[in-house]
Amino acid sequence: MATGARRKIVAGNWKMNKTVPEALALVRELRAQVAPLGDKVEVVVAPPFVALQAVHVALEGAPLQLAAQNCHWEASGAFTGEVSAPMLAELGCAYVIVGHSERRQFFGETDETVNKRAHAVKKAGMTPILCVGETLAEREANRTLEVVERQVRGALVGFEAADVAKFVLAYEPVWAIGTGRTATTAQAQEVHAAIRGLVARLYDGETAGRVRIQYGGSVKPDNAAELLGQPDVDGALVGGASLKAGDFLAIVKSAG
Ligand code: PGA
Repeated sequence: MATGARRKIVAGNWKMNKTVPEALALVRELRAQVAPLGDKVEVVVAPPFVALQAVHVALEGAPLQLAAQNCHWEASGAFTGEVSAPMLAELGCAYVIVGHSERRQFFGETDETVNKRAHAVKKAGMTPILCVGETLAEREANRTLEVVERQVRGALVGFEAADVAKFVLAYEPVWAIGTGRTATTAQAQEVHAAIRGLVARLYDGETAGRVRIQYGGSVKPDNAAELLGQPDVDGALVGGASLKAGDFLAIVKSAG
């Protein structure tokens, strides 16, 4: 499927890292260096909730988008410790990461709650970055495509083609996250093409041609260009390497 129409998107998922002063130091560095890279690549940062407000202010006018790492599906109410999608939209978030494997693994996230959160994100005027990916045991049992298909179908329940065309999907094999093990380019391309094929079956070819699919899992400056060069890889969701401005910018550059 043609890649020409899809603008690459590189997002830094900071996870539970960076205090507010540390977050500000990192975005100041990014801000200074990202502009000359032009608008070929969309660049997104996802700091922890407590740093969103400060980072939003620090990013004003910069070609960088803000994302949150999660949200609750209700707009407000008695949900101690949770943060809602309208609250994040008000802080300037354009994206919310939904269904990251760490949330599935450690915080009981299911395909159903991923879907509910995605609807809340869309309703609040933001775009979900929907994460899917198999565990090592699932890959070794040859169940990768079945698992990823179930997760994508589950995440997209109740959405129309016009919604999905704007969404970002992130294929993140769980065994490659934070482990230093990266999927080979062939492994990544195979799953990305399968996801795009599924979107074509569930919706239509045009939607499949427009939805962006990021790869995530130990993306580093030295493997980014090859992964991002695959026809169905439209960007990267970067964890560890997004915590250093130099590494993250090098990955952004290889997407351009
Ligand atoms: P990693 O994390 O780059 O540290 O492997 C990726 C992610 O979890 O999004």
